[in-house]
Amino acid sequence: MTRASIAVLVSGTGRHLENLAELSKSPESDFPVDVVLAVSNRPGVQALERAARCEVPSLVIEPVAGETDQAYGERLFNAVRESGADAVVLAGFLKKLWIPEDYAGRVINIHPSLLPAFGGKGFYGSRVHRAVLERGVQVTGCTVHLVDEVYDNGPIILQRWCAVEPDDTVESLAKRVFEEERLALPMGIKSFLAARK
Ligand code: GAR
Repeated sequence: MTRASIAVLVSGTGRHLENLAELSKSPESDFPVDVVLAVSNRPGVQALERAARCEVPSLVIEPVAGETDQAYGERLFNAVRESGADAVVLAGFLKKLWIPEDYAGRVINIHPSLLPAFGGKGFYGSRVHRAVLERGVQVTGCTVHLVDEVYDNGPIILQRWCAVEPDDTVESLAKRVFEEERLALPMGIKSFLAARK
């Protein structure tokens, strides 16, 4: 697979951003992908510190009061286009994203449940795991999928699953799911890019 480049959009902690940036630099990793840009919709988040530590150029693009999703998306994708990214990865990006035509089908998201269960508006981070525990499901996991105009709805690229244990807390479950996420996101990005070549 020839090398490809991605922009990673974040809103918070940035563990995925760091993992992708580290894999990208590691000769043993077989992840022929360069992280050319990180964009946060929020200033001051840990993801920006991680981007700096990993030497990934970063930008904060904050929504402006009264701005439409499309106007925000246009500003954000101008920066993405300028970075030369072949694809965009939402890694804990918690804002609804309008996607321009030239990037349609090139935006990937990771979600911490087995979609279509526990997805959609309001389902993010620990809220997903709390809902999983409250419902009593015995298997959960994560989903890497293409993004379309509906929350957590686009075609699924890859899923990984894990058990929900009887004594799980939101934190213990989030930790177990994230171990699967760390594997799923790079695998999903690679299989998406390979299918496009
Ligand atoms: C990840 O667990 C990701 O699956 C979740 O946010 C976390 C981001 O972690 N995304 C969603 O809930 C999207 N609906 P990170 O900022 O440490 O990479």
